[in-house]
Amino acid sequence: MLQFSFSPFPVLETKNLILRQIHLNDDKEVFELRSNPETMKFIPRPLAETIEDAQKFITDCNTGIEKNDYINWAIAQKNDNKLIGMIGFFRLQPEHFRAEVGYILNPNFHGKGIMTEALDEALKYAFNTLNFHSIEAVIDPGNIASEKLLQKSGFEKEAHLKENFFYNGEFLDTVIYSILKTKFL
Ligand SMILES: CC(C)(COP(=O)(O)OP(=O)(O)OC[C@H]1O[C@@H](n2cnc3c(N)ncnc32)[C@H](O)[C@@H]1OP(=O)(O)O)[C@@H](O)C(=O)NCCC(=O)NCCS
Repeated sequence: MLQFSFSPFPVLETKNLILRQIHLNDDKEVFELRSNPETMKFIPRPLAETIEDAQKFITDCNTGIEKNDYINWAIAQKNDNKLIGMIGFFRLQPEHFRAEVGYILNPNFHGKGIMTEALDEALKYAFNTLNFHSIEAVIDPGNIASEKLLQKSGFEKEAHLKENFFYNGEFLDTVIYSILKTKFL
């Protein structure tokens, strides 16, 4: 069974990006992301309505990280360190050496390869440092951008579940992608 410790917080670095802890002074950027109905279209969570909602999200994130329940990074460009997105591993299954990846990026930065770069680094950490055996991604079948990102990053489609998820009065389909450590390295 895997055991995790996210203290001290693992700061990761790529050619262009820093993956760092999310701080309360990122509240405006987090609010911008989580209050945008387009960006949140395929993320079944309530939209942030106030800056306090964003602050609560950040506090809850950091509590989860302190408890080693999950890990969530701010994605920032090296030149200004400003939060432009987030990526993390949730629903950790230490007994199965498996976790779910989730990510979101400010639309001003879409289509520039930023999440490909962040995901690759997060996967390196997941497989090499945390020693997961597999990582899954659970997406809405309409989320073409997420699907393309996963395919580009080496994930394979495993399942299409029919109307298995009830959200906002609707039964939604779910598509599951995954990548094995042996396929990534
Ligand atoms: C999914 C998301 C993170 C992609 O981030 P990104 O930085 O724009 O992705 P990249 O630029 O690294 O692109 C990766 C691949 O996907 C393709 N892609 C990205 N957006 C696309 C779109 N809207 N339509 C078609 N292809 C798309 C890119 O062309 C690229 O493939 P290529 O190099 O072969 O051309 C971003 O669209 C996002 O934040 N969406 C909203 C939040 C969300 O839905 N999160 C996922 C929940 S499961």
